[in-house]
Amino acid sequence: MAVDPNVYDIEMEHVTKRFGDFVAVKDMDLKIKKGEFFSMLGPSGCGKTTTLRMVAGFEEPTEGEIYLANTPVAGVPPYKRPVNTVFQSYALFPHLSVWENVAFGLKRKHVDKKEIEQRVGEAIAMVEMESMKDRKPVQLSGGQQQRVALARALVNRPTVLLLDEPLGALDAKLRKAMQLELKKLQSDVGITFIYVTHDQEEALTMSDRLAVMSQGVVEQVGTPAEIYENPQSAFVANFIGVSNIYLSDVTRVEGGVAECRTDKGLGVLVSAHGKDIKAGDKVGVVIRPEKFAIAPVEKAAAISDRENVFDGVIKAIVYIGSVTQFIVDIEGKHLAQILFQNLYHTEREEWAEDEKVKVACWKDSASLITDVKTGMAEKDLMGEVVKRI
Ligand SMILES: Nc1ncnc2c1ncn2[C@@H]1O[C@H](COP(=O)(O)OP(=O)(O)OP(=O)(O)O)[C@@H](O)[C@H]1O
Ligand SMILES: [Mg+2]
Repeated sequence: MAVDPNVYDIEMEHVTKRFGDFVAVKDMDLKIKKGEFFSMLGPSGCGKTTTLRMVAGFEEPTEGEIYLANTPVAGVPPYKRPVNTVFQSYALFPHLSVWENVAFGLKRKHVDKKEIEQRVGEAIAMVEMESMKDRKPVQLSGGQQQRVALARALVNRPTVLLLDEPLGALDAKLRKAMQLELKKLQSDVGITFIYVTHDQEEALTMSDRLAVMSQGVVEQVGTPAEIYENPQSAFVANFIGVSNIYLSDVTRVEGGVAECRTDKGLGVLVSAHGKDIKAGDKVGVVIRPEKFAIAPVEKAAAISDRENVFDGVIKAIVYIGSVTQFIVDIEGKHLAQILFQNLYHTEREEWAEDEKVKVACWKDSASLITDVKTGMAEKDLMGEVVKRI
């Protein structure tokens, strides 16, 4: 089932949650569309679970309003909300079979016996556990237990399913397999998913859209490509993938292109990508490692069609198989991490430390962030990248 762009299942307006003096979620505004796979991504303690608990009704916001299917839900207890939650520790009843675990909630609600049979059968079929319906949880693998936990939530036919790091307990390989299963299940049944994770790759590969959170604040909301290609803050640029970030002044803006001068005096042309940038602004120029092209000086023509072409000297080379990672000194001014795709056998492309090279980048492949301050050092901006150098 497709996402309906005009109908919102969940709306959060100015939602703040305080625990005493501590602000766990700050002034959150989010609209999640019907049928959407929406992820909340952020480091430990940034407020992801607190947000889910407010949507589910286990916590009430200190300020602001939450709407589920256009209805304000303040004061509505969890069991009366059209949502179900799958937790990281799925807490199946050990003495009950798979079938009985899935049926448990419906039995307690005194749903008609025939309807229970039908709905439990459907839910177990959705997660492909029919052949194991009589087993107890101890007789199941971690992934199978997780599927039972999902069936137990799906059997209630919720409008929205909240998933709090549901794959956290699984090993890497099973996690990947379950990611695909979950994604397929979600698009088959058409239920809106809010999926909490601190794994950036998981959020990028599974979501229609995601919110990146830091310290209780939503830093950016967008599709995976929008977030990766056009991060709006240094936090997002560093948390999602790796970024080279150079503190710069904007000297001119024309036709959606910003002429920037870095604090070390390097001129760079960058597409504003729709951001409201003007001459005199302080910005960070963001260039992802794979957006830089690199070529030996004698082959510079191959990359000279890019708007930004610089002289460089290779400082470090790390061969990683599909790619080679370089640290390059650009014109004695900045360091850049560059990823070069190894399209040819390495004999065709021999690189050496201290070799002079050309590096280049299209203006459209770079982006700008504005949450920077005069005097910020490259280590403040690029964190990880500089530490690794
Ligand atoms: N009941 C509570 N009382 C006081 N502080 C709380 C309470 N619940 C959560 N917090 C605090 O709020 C902050 C956000 O917690 P939350 O559980 O939402 O983080 P999270 O993003 O889910 O992190 P993780 O990835 O580790 O699960 C944390 O600093 C946490 O200590
Ligand atoms: Mg959590």
